[in-house]
Amino acid sequence: MVNVAVLGYGTVGSGVVKVIDTNHDSILEKAGVDLNIKYVLDLRDFPDDPIQEKIVHDYEVIVNDPEVSIVVEVMGGVEPAYTFTKRALMAGKSVCTSNKELVARCGTELQQLAKENHASYLFEASCGGGIPIIRPLRTSLTADVIDEITGILNGTTNYILTKMIEEGLEFDDVLKDAQQKGYAERNPEADVEGHDACRKIAILSSLAYGKRVDFTDVYTEGITKITSSDIVYAKKMNKTIKLLAYSSRQGDQVMAMVAPYLVSKEDPLYAVNGVFNAIFVHGNMLGDAMFYGQGAGKEATASAVAGDVVEEAQMLGTGVVSSWKPEKQVLTDVSSTEKPFFVRMKGDALEKENLEKVFGPIKVIGAGLEGEFGFVTEKMSEASYQERAAKVDGIIGMIRVREK
Ligand code: HSE
Repeated sequence: MVNVAVLGYGTVGSGVVKVIDTNHDSILEKAGVDLNIKYVLDLRDFPDDPIQEKIVHDYEVIVNDPEVSIVVEVMGGVEPAYTFTKRALMAGKSVCTSNKELVARCGTELQQLAKENHASYLFEASCGGGIPIIRPLRTSLTADVIDEITGILNGTTNYILTKMIEEGLEFDDVLKDAQQKGYAERNPEADVEGHDACRKIAILSSLAYGKRVDFTDVYTEGITKITSSDIVYAKKMNKTIKLLAYSSRQGDQVMAMVAPYLVSKEDPLYAVNGVFNAIFVHGNMLGDAMFYGQGAGKEATASAVAGDVVEEAQMLGTGVVSSWKPEKQVLTDVSSTEKPFFVRMKGDALEKENLEKVFGPIKVIGAGLEGEFGFVTEKMSEASYQERAAKVDGIIGMIRVREK
């Protein structure tokens, strides 16, 4: 029997207990591991829940119990999750987590610590919720050179954008509705400003390209500036708007960014709606592959965590090798990256000739909105776009266009 302790009986923690209890026999049959939840750490008591007999309030009970082989950290946040994880690994216990903030900040150190102690530190649920993406990147795709990852990695923003598009609503109204329904956090800043997607693309890029990508280096824009007028133009162009987390590698050069993009109907990411996530990966031999599924939610996320528990249980005593090099991957400045830009302008389309003197050939998009029009530029670098945009008055907004 392999004893497991779960840190935190919140949404994901209670989901992990549910998955391991419900699927105990099938896990035993398929994977040959007999899992037992021995403790659940939480500050609260749950008198009406059978879990109460396993609840402990003191982490010392868990870390000092030699019978506990695996610790599931689903507390979220950096502290005390970091200290608890470190102590568990130093005691030779394997740890798995859904905590993207901790993995993005301290994943390099914690994986190293796991290795030194012949234990594992796994984090499948930190990116894409229930979608298997970490394991494919560190096992199935190791023979490939991955040169691009593009993900819809945040369910909250994808839900908000989908609602804005389907119902023509404004950002603030959808956000309020999403908060009331419990889809968006009370403090939604990390989601809507793109920070959550930024941490996830940093983790995926570190794994795919082999060196530590610092999330603080990733250029990040959120969706707070997207309006219902942008949606009108997007529809006119047969496109939708998605918050994309993107990274690519050419030789030693890696770039990464998070920003809203116009995505065309032909793009497989177009149809990823609501709280669903998708991760598109390109490898030099593989070509294109896309991973799709529920990016958040109790059971889906818990299923990914429980998959890590099973793998760790099978590898007790040796540990799962799962790591990128600790050296920092210096990122290429996004200003050199090229794409077309969609621009909204005050005025009327008669100004096309003057605008083309600045931007080169443009395609004017009329969406019937009073006192404004839109246009799409040809492909140019971010730096070149910024330089040209500074020469004209009346720009209302800009959205990048994904080419696929
Ligand atoms: N807040 C995250 C999201 C939860 O909306 O995708 C899953 O990481």
